[in-house]
Amino acid sequence: MHPTLQIIQKEHASLTAMLQSIRMMIKRGPRDKPLTFFEVMRAMLFYIDEFPEKSHHPKETNYLFPVILKRCPELKGVIDRLDAEHDAGETRVRELQHLLLAWELLGETHRQAFVSACETYIDYYLEHIHVENTQLLPQAAQHLSAEDWVSLDMEFSKNLDPLAHFGVAASELQTPLAQEFNHLFTQITHHAPAPIGLGDD
Ligand SMILES: [Fe+2]
Ligand SMILES: [Fe+2]
Repeated sequence: MHPTLQIIQKEHASLTAMLQSIRMMIKRGPRDKPLTFFEVMRAMLFYIDEFPEKSHHPKETNYLFPVILKRCPELKGVIDRLDAEHDAGETRVRELQHLLLAWELLGETHRQAFVSACETYIDYYLEHIHVENTQLLPQAAQHLSAEDWVSLDMEFSKNLDPLAHFGVAASELQTPLAQEFNHLFTQITHHAPAPIGLGDD
C-alpha cells in the first residue's frame, strides 16, 4: 500500500479510537471523580482540535483531494461535501470545548447540551471517516499515477499524528510533535476507557 494511504488509515484509526473513548466517557459520566473526568475530556477534545483539525484535514484538502479530483472528476460531489466538513470542523470542536466548560463551571443544567452536541459530533465524524475510507481512498489507490504518489507521500509523511507514536520510548520518539504530546496522551490513557485508555478508571 502507498505510504500516504497507510498514514491516512492510521490517523483515521487513532481518531476513531479517540472518538469511541469520548463516547464511553460521556456514557459513564463524571461519577465521583469530576475533576479527572473534565480534565481528561478537555485533553481529548484538545487533541482533536490540535492534530486532526490542524494537520490531518489540511493535508487531505490541500494535497489529496485536488489530485483525486483531477483523476476522478466524477467524485466532485463527495469531495465538496468532505471539504465543507473540513471547513466547519475547527469551529465545531471549539463549540464542544465551550459547552464542556459550561457543564463544568455552571453545573448539571448544562450537561445535556454538551452530551447531545458531542454525540452528534461523534456520529458526524465517524461518518466523515467512513466516506473517506470507502468512497475516496480505494479510488485513489486505483487511479492515481506514480508521480501523484511521490508528491503525496512527501507531504503526508510530514506532521505525523503524534498519537501514532504514543507508547514509544521518549528517546525514540520520531518527531518533536510526538514528544510534546507524550504527556497529554499519558494523562488520557491513565484515565480514559478503552479503546484509547487502559481501563475503566
Ligand atoms: Fe477528512
Ligand atoms: Fe481523513
